[in-house]
This record gives sequence, C-alpha cells and structure tokens, in this order.
Amino acid sequence: MTNSCKDSDKSPWLVLAPIRGVTDAAFRSAHAAIFGGFDEALAPFVVPERAHPVRARDLAEVSPGRNRALPTVPQILADDAELFLQTASLLAESGCKVVNWNLGCPHPMVTRRKRGAGLLPHPDRIEAFLSQVVPAVGLEVSVKLRLGMNDPSEILQVIPVLNRFALREVIIHPRTAAQMYKGKVDLDAFERVAPLCSHPVVYNGDLCDASGFQVLSRRFPGISRWMIGRGALSDPSLALAIRGQTLEPADRLQRYRRLHDSMLAHYTEVLQGQAHVIDKMAGLWSYWVDAIPGKRKLIRRLLKIRELDRFKAGVDQILGD
Ligand SMILES: Cc1cc2nc3c(=O)[nH]c(=O)nc-3n(C[C@H](O)[C@H](O)[C@H](O)COP(=O)(O)O)c2cc1C
Repeated sequence: MTNSCKDSDKSPWLVLAPIRGVTDAAFRSAHAAIFGGFDEALAPFVVPERAHPVRARDLAEVSPGRNRALPTVPQILADDAELFLQTASLLAESGCKVVNWNLGCPHPMVTRRKRGAGLLPHPDRIEAFLSQVVPAVGLEVSVKLRLGMNDPSEILQVIPVLNRFALREVIIHPRTAAQMYKGKVDLDAFERVAPLCSHPVVYNGDLCDASGFQVLSRRFPGISRWMIGRGALSDPSLALAIRGQTLEPADRLQRYRRLHDSMLAHYTEVLQGQAHVIDKMAGLWSYWVDAIPGKRKLIRRLLKIRELDRFKAGVDQILGD
C-alpha cells in the first residue's frame, strides 16, 4: 500500500472517506466485494484514552487481516503526542504501515478540547505534536484537515508547519469547522492552498457524481488523489463511474440489494437486539433516500420502522426480494 499511489499515471487514486458509524470494516469489505472501485479507505477515528490507548475491538477493525479487500489506514483523534504514539505502536504491531492524524473533526465536544479542527488555530501546538510524533512513530503519517476552525485562512499558517515534516500525504476538506458539513466547499481556497503544500494533496469534499469529478479534476490537474465520503454512500457505484464503468440500472439495484443483505446479516450477527440492528441499517438507508429512482417515499417510510420483520418487508418492497 505504501507509496503505491498512482501520481505518475492518469488513473485517479480513490480513497473511501471515513464516515463514523457507517464505513466500518464490514461495510468496507462488502463495498469492495459488491461495488469496488476504491484503492484505499481511511477508517473512522479512534480516540485513545489513558486507560486503553486503543480497544481490542477498534484494533481488530483496522488490522490488515480484516481489511484485505480494501487496504485501510487507521485514524487517530488526539492532542496528546504520547497517547498517539502508544496507539500507533499497537497499530504497527497489528501490521498497519500508515496512520492518519485527524485535524478536521468539527464537533464542538472535540474542538473545545483542542482536538480535531480545534487545533487548526494553534500551529505551534501542531508543530510540537508532530516534532514528538514523526521521528518516533515508525509508521508513515498522513494528516486530514479543514481550512480552519472559523476562518479559512488559518490553514495558511498550518501548511508551512506540515511542510517541515515527512508526511505521506495531506487530505484537505475545503470547509471550516464552523461550516460543519453545510454550505459550499471553498474551491478557490483549495486552489490557493494546495500548491503551497509540499506533500501529495488529497482533495476531499462533495464529490457526488462522475461529472462533478471531471469538473474538479480538470480544474485541479495537479491533484491525483481523491477522497469520497457521502457521495459514495449514496451511490456506492460512484468510484466505478469515475473510472468510466456505468452499471445498468437493474445491476445497480441488485448490488444495493446485496450490500443491504450483507450489512443486515453482519449487524444481526454482531449486535444485540432489533433496535440496534435497525438503527445501523437506517444509518445506511438514510444515504439512499434519493439514490433509488422512484422510491423516495417508500424509503422515508422505511426509516420510521422500528420492527425488524417490517423493516425487511419494507426493503423487499423497495429493492425486490
Ligand atoms: C456522519 C459523519 C461521520 C464522519 N466521521 C469522520 C471520521 O471519523 N473521521 C474523519 O476524518 N472524517 C469524518 N467525517 C468527514 C468525512 O470523512 C468527509 O471529510 C466529509 O464528509 C466530506 O467529504 P464528502 O463530502 O465526500 O462526504 C465524517 C462525516 C460525517 C458526515
């Protein structure tokens, strides 16, 4: 996986973004088997605690053995270099080669503690953290960040700091944390900032269809790595479409069916109680409300169902059985 990015050739390097609660190891494997098209995934973050740097369950989620179908980079959300190093060392023992540092999480509970995007107004802290981590970690390090906490110019102080360290890549989501996931991505800011970064840059944000991808790849010819989150949940065939492979409608629908069946079987096995299984499945289906032509009403109704047999019958009505 390391250094295998295809900067030199024409085909884009596509990375499945972390969406906590959805893109777990089971989803990543099922997606790779049923749709495919991604080169790599970034896992949702783990938060190391003093008592346990990383729980066995979280470690198993990102271990290479569990992620053979789609090589996966683990992500750590931390402001404490010592804890990051302890966690990274466990990840290395389990076979991981790369670790990502989350500098983008926008949630106030996180940013208030100067974690995630909460660190972006503090380039001095970022520098102190990386000075401790990078020489000691024994893994390649990548960073995922936003333009800033409140102000999109904060990144201008952060990029020179990142340039001082050996990093595998820098993933930029061109929004501020204050925007959360709303409003427009600031493509002008991305255009100004990306060339300032001496590391390979991964673009991330609001890629929803192949034509949108074409527009951005023409606008940013220097970018060959692209990360896609919500767009790939709504349309799991998006990575294939970007690679020029369009699925026939019946085939596409049948693959949604298989993805649903695979995730339902998994959650039924690992979760206790119908309510938890339905919550998880509804999390996935909430991305599909507008994805399946003519089924919007039925899907909205499905999302209200609280009983598993009725949920399954609702799915049969939408996708056929
Ligand atoms: C529900 C949800 C959970 C997310 N979890 C993570 C996460 O664990 N780590 C992370 O770096 N980004 C996380 N993100 C951000 C996405 O990875 C991505 O940066 C963002 O959605 C923009 O890309 P997109 O427009 O392609 O979805 C999350 C986003 C959402 C909506």
